[in-house]
Amino acid sequence: MEIFRLLYTSFKNFNTLRKNRKMLNEILNPSLFRHDTAFDDLYPKHIRDLSPMHWTPVDIAKKAAAFLALPNARVLDIGSGVGKFCITAGFFHPETTFYGIEQRSELFTFAEIAREEVDLPNVNFIHGNLTELDFDNYDHFYFYNSFYENIEPDSRIDYAVRTSFELYELYSRFVYKMLDEKPPETRLVTFHASYTQVPPAYRVVNNSYSKVLKMWIKE
Ligand SMILES: C[S@@+](CC[C@H](N)C(=O)[O-])C[C@H]1O[C@@H](n2cnc3c(N)ncnc32)[C@H](O)[C@@H]1O
Repeated sequence: MEIFRLLYTSFKNFNTLRKNRKMLNEILNPSLFRHDTAFDDLYPKHIRDLSPMHWTPVDIAKKAAAFLALPNARVLDIGSGVGKFCITAGFFHPETTFYGIEQRSELFTFAEIAREEVDLPNVNFIHGNLTELDFDNYDHFYFYNSFYENIEPDSRIDYAVRTSFELYELYSRFVYKMLDEKPPETRLVTFHASYTQVPPAYRVVNNSYSKVLKMWIKE
């Protein structure tokens, strides 16, 4: 009998802990999205060090998400890194599903760990090359000039993948064609990308942060 009592008590304690953890998350999480330093603490030091140059600042992610997050829409981050855009967007817009595709397995893994930590069922990460993805499965897109390291060696994230001018051309052409084939009303946010990377059917409806953050709608 004693053993059942002990088992029951530890089960009850475990359940209380789980509930408390959820409550704690709900209280703590909003503060995660107040500063980049707070958010970046989800990651180890070598990933945090890459943040200023390679991961979307929290403020930018919030603005981009507010534009892309139509109810029930599926939003894709083209080159999702450690998931900073998707996690921020997913937290503030639970009615929208966010997806990220990332070619580097290490970054994909850190994105998954952070997603679990923040506990977001509406965020999904995919490990792979974006050229393998079926873009029919997504409605709106976020793009933080993901291919730049192919043409600017000083901006490499690491040496885990091959980079080249040819890959820059290939990936840029691929995304351009995919965007061109999307129906009218498709939304796109670009951060530090150029006009030449976006088909002419997309109209800029908002241009902020010294013109590096652009919001587009397809006509
Ligand atoms: C500038 S980072 C942006 C990360 C994330 N979108 C954010 O805003 O925090 C670009 C990411 O795109 C990824 N990437 C570049 N080319 C890719 C490709 N062909 N397929 C999948 N991921 C790619 C890189 O590995 C890198 O992590």
